Amino acid sequence: MFYPEELVEEVRAKNDIVDVVSGYIRMTKKGANHWGCCPFHNEKTPSFAVNGAKQMYHCFGCGAGGNVFTFVMNYENYSFPEAIKVLADRAGVTLPEASYDEAAKEKQNRRMRLLEVNKEAAKFFCYQLRTPKGEIGYQYLSRRALTDETIKRFGLGYSGKTGGELVQYLKSKGFEDDLIIESGLASFSEKYGMSSQFWNRVMYPIMDIHNRVIGFGGRVMGDGEPKYLNSPETPVFDKRRNLFGLNFARASRAGNIILCEGYMDVIAMHQAGFTQAVAALGTAFTPEQAGLLRRYTDSVLLAFDSDGAGVKAALRAIGILKDAGLSGKVINMRPYKDPDEFMKAEGKEAFEERIAKAENSFFFEIRILEQSFDLKDPEAKTNFYKEIAKKLCGFSVDVERENYLEAIAEKYNIGQANLKKLVNSYAAQTGLAKPIERPKSGVQSKNKPEDGAKKSQRLLITWITDEPGIYSKIEKYISPEDFTEDLYRKVAERLFADLANGNYNPAAIISMFTDEEEQRQAAELFNTNLPEINTPQEREKAFHDILYAVKKNSYEYFTSQLGADVTALNKVIQGKKALEELAKTRISID
Ligand code: CTP
Ligand code: MN
Repeated sequence: MFYPEELVEEVRAKNDIVDVVSGYIRMTKKGANHWGCCPFHNEKTPSFAVNGAKQMYHCFGCGAGGNVFTFVMNYENYSFPEAIKVLADRAGVTLPEASYDEAAKEKQNRRMRLLEVNKEAAKFFCYQLRTPKGEIGYQYLSRRALTDETIKRFGLGYSGKTGGELVQYLKSKGFEDDLIIESGLASFSEKYGMSSQFWNRVMYPIMDIHNRVIGFGGRVMGDGEPKYLNSPETPVFDKRRNLFGLNFARASRAGNIILCEGYMDVIAMHQAGFTQAVAALGTAFTPEQAGLLRRYTDSVLLAFDSDGAGVKAALRAIGILKDAGLSGKVINMRPYKDPDEFMKAEGKEAFEERIAKAENSFFFEIRILEQSFDLKDPEAKTNFYKEIAKKLCGFSVDVERENYLEAIAEKYNIGQANLKKLVNSYAAQTGLAKPIERPKSGVQSKNKPEDGAKKSQRLLITWITDEPGIYSKIEKYISPEDFTEDLYRKVAERLFADLANGNYNPAAIISMFTDEEEQRQAAELFNTNLPEINTPQEREKAFHDILYAVKKNSYEYFTSQLGADVTALNKVIQGKKALEELAKTRISID
């Protein structure tokens, strides 16, 4: 941890979560909460609640949650130390320099310098584009139908006939050779000295979501090889975790994100008003990028090239989107090659229609699959159906699988009962797909079957934090070890210690974790929906059942650990006693 705990807590306490979140989204107060539309998934009716008393937020739609640090990390894509810094500035708290360790500080400085070099280089490329020498680049971009406004918005530029000017310029600005080399803008050789990586190319700066230039793509003007040169990976340029155009797309209110293949596609789309378009960075689409998109939308439309390579890339991307819990659709670009060409030929309204008609990614996959079978041949046809059945087994949710089965059976004129039989026999051999692991990101998929034990542990913690008076009544039955989830146990340890000391503060407990996903899970512990209760008797019984369930689970857990854990026997004996006692007792909680 970079900073002492008291300081982290001071920064948190001085940034009221309602104030901070209000700076980002519109909220209205209703009951104990302020409500707004969740910024971490798409919705039209507010299910995002900020609780001023608890100093936490929780989205009942997507499960995002945490304290003020989590919110800023999640919204701004900051690390924990970055979020602390921003919020410390906001509240006028001075952070001691020295609490960074030297190596971390050096690394951070280096990153800042690299961003500065990139920014200066981008400025230089822009400037070059407007000089007589850069005319050729400007002509090229105009030929590609880009307006001045678009060129400015994307900061497009030109890298100079020889590239030598850039190095000179950067040196004159005080950047050292090794920094310029590390940025990937130039390289050094004994023979030529410092030489630019990019020359005689139009330049596309690549920005992160905070509009900081992290790298460049340079395109030849015309047909040369390679068509694009990209900056190498550097400490500020992670190609797996950024997307071209996301700095603009994240503010688009389109309700979806359009994933394209090329920089040029993105630029053409934005120019036509589709500001939700993004593209990968000269590499294939990655799971990390899917996780990033998930912060902004749950619906991704693919606008890939319509050639064979584009179809292949689309199939890969569909798999990645699915694993990330995102729904994908495919936009048909035919007869044009890509969005850029489509836009030039048909324009905005025609593309709107294509968006409306975008094909469900499963149907797309099946349609592509179909092309590799000769359906006139009975054997090939059978194999095609088997492949369909196999793919249907990929849906782990019954209703979803059933729905797709029905739709596909109708579409391909297969008897539903027969297809179902195929699915069942295939599932019997290999099993249905396991529900996907939730990837690291602020949002969780809805309606996932709950692990009962975990749920009762969460319910108990929420109940105790809502009514801290209860703790003293159950202290003798419960201990942090009863929380069999690692993270839950850490929270319980701290919470129970705080309660025993009489200074309990759930929002501060969340800052024990520096990882955004862990913070979300910790916050979830304090925000589980308690059962609907009418009478005091019901309340008592509900509480008793939850406590009993937690104890029973822990008893069973330690029983299974007998032999593996030397302390387990003791815990089993105590657990058994507590269960017997609890079975006879009703704890009065009012
Ligand atoms: N790409 C690359 N290096 C290459 C070719 C392509 O890095 N030699 C990456 C670029 O990110 C490019 C994307 O792959 O944007 C898609 O390639 P392509 O469709 O050829 O590029 P466009 O952006 O469509 O370029 P243009 O329309 O100018 O041909
Ligand atoms: Mn293109």
